[in-house]
Amino acid sequence: MAYIVTDPCIQCKHTNCAAVCPVDAFRAGPNFLVIDPIECIDCDACVAECPVDAIYPDDEVPMEWVDYIELNERLSEEWANHVINEVKDPLPNADEWAEKDNKRQYLQENWDENAKPVNP
Ligand code: SF4
Ligand code: F3S
Repeated sequence: MAYIVTDPCIQCKHTNCAAVCPVDAFRAGPNFLVIDPIECIDCDACVAECPVDAIYPDDEVPMEWVDYIELNERLSEEWANHVINEVKDPLPNADEWAEKDNKRQYLQENWDENAKPVNP
């Protein structure tokens, strides 16, 4: 089992979750965080830290977001050099983005693009 970051994190990236993880399982992308399922020890500490309720155990991920299970696994490999274990400022307009649903289309997978957060 592992914990999974899902859709509400996109364009918010509050990072409170990453600061409490005892095994540094979080990896950062330009506008999203993922959890490395190999590192996660299922301690549950991160869930309560996320102000937008983006984190679930893999067996409780809402049906519409089950693809995020594979996404966390894949992106944690691609972002292996982007370990995050401290709080950073959330992205601009995080509060506005928190009210939006289905943000998958805005996910920026590639650091190489020098991608900037888009406006809400
Ligand atoms: Fe880290 Fe625990 Fe969250 Fe897993 S459940 S990512 S070990 S804080
Ligand atoms: Fe994302 Fe929530 Fe963590 S918005 S960065 S999962 S605190």
